[in-house]
Amino acid sequence: MHLMYPSITEANKHMKSEILRILKNSTDYVSGQELCNLLGVSRTAVWKVMNQLKEEGYQIDSVSKKGYRLLESPDILSKEEIKSQMETVSLGTEVVYLDAVDSTNTYAKSIADNGGIHGTLVVAGMQTVGKGRRGRTWVSPKDTGIWMTLILKPDMKPVGASMLTLVAGLAVARAITQETGEECQIKWPNDIVMNGRKVCGILTEMSTEFDYINHVVVGIGINANIREFPEELQQTASSLLLESGHAVHRAKLIARVMKEMESCYEIFLRTQDMSALMAEYNERLVSLDKEVVILRGNDRIEAVSLGIDKEGELLIRTRDNHIEKVVAGEVSVRGVYGYV
Ligand code: BTN
Repeated sequence: MHLMYPSITEANKHMKSEILRILKNSTDYVSGQELCNLLGVSRTAVWKVMNQLKEEGYQIDSVSKKGYRLLESPDILSKEEIKSQMETVSLGTEVVYLDAVDSTNTYAKSIADNGGIHGTLVVAGMQTVGKGRRGRTWVSPKDTGIWMTLILKPDMKPVGASMLTLVAGLAVARAITQETGEECQIKWPNDIVMNGRKVCGILTEMSTEFDYINHVVVGIGINANIREFPEELQQTASSLLLESGHAVHRAKLIARVMKEMESCYEIFLRTQDMSALMAEYNERLVSLDKEVVILRGNDRIEAVSLGIDKEGELLIRTRDNHIEKVVAGEVSVRGVYGYV
C-alpha cells in the first residue's frame, strides 16, 4: 500500500496557520501545553513556529507559566495568514499564494485545467501582467493590493454563469463595507466604487464545452492600500486607504470576501438567477434612477438606469420612453458627467 504523507514544510505551514487561528480566536494567553495538545505536536515544534512568526513581524507576547498571546498581526499576505482568517466551508479553503505571478486568472485557469478543485483561491503579492476587462491591463503593484482569483465549477448551464460576475461584485461590496465601515456602490456590472472612484474590478473568464461548464475563474482586483495613482487614473481610480482614511488588513478582507461570496453563491445556485440578490444589488447600484450613457460600438444611447432584472441585465428607459435590456459585455455604461 502506498501512503501519502504531507511534506515537513507543508505540515509546518499547516501548524503555523492553526497556531495563528488559535491565537487570533483567543482573548487571553494560550499555554504552550494547550497548543501541543490541540495540535498533537511537541513543545519544541510550537516554540519554533512562534519564533518564525515573530521574525515575520507578528507581535507575540510570551509570558512564562501563562503562554502566548497575539498582540498584532502585520498586513502581510501568506498562505498561512490567509488560511488562519478563513471562516468558510467550501470557498477559499484551498489557498495558493504566490509572491509574484503574471496574472492570477491565467494561473488559476491552468490549475483548474489540471484538476484544481472547486473553491481554490489563488492570491498573489503582485502581478506582472494583470488583466482587466476589454483587453486592458490591470496595474497590480507589490504588497499593496488584493490580486486574487477564485476557481468555481458550478453545476449549471453556461448561459447563467455570466451572472457570477454580479454575484462576486455584490459579495465584494458587502465585504468592503464591513471591513472599512464605509459605504461602497456597484457600477454595473461589477466595478466597485467609493465616492465615485473605482476601487475594485472583476474579470470573470469561463471555460465551457458544448452545454457544460468546465470551470469559471473569478478574478478580483481590490486597490486596498495603494497611496498614489498615475495622473491619468486619478479622476477615476482610488483605493480603500485613500477613500476611508485607513489601511485595511488584506488577509482579513480576503476572508470576508470569501465568506460573503460563499453565502451569495449558495443563494444564486438555488435560484440559478439573480432574483434573490437583485434587491440588494440594486440598492448598491450607483446609477439607479440616474441618467446614463450607453456606449455600444459607435452608438450612444442616453437613458435612465432602472436597475438589474433577475437575469442580471440592466434595464434602461430611453428618451422615447422605451424600456430596453442591456447585456453586460456588449456595452459600456457611463454617467452623463463622467465615470459613474
Ligand atoms: C476590470 O477591468 O475592471 C477588471 C480587473 C480585474 C483585475 C483582477 S486582479 C486579479 C485577477 N487577475 C487578473 O489578471 N485580473 C484580475
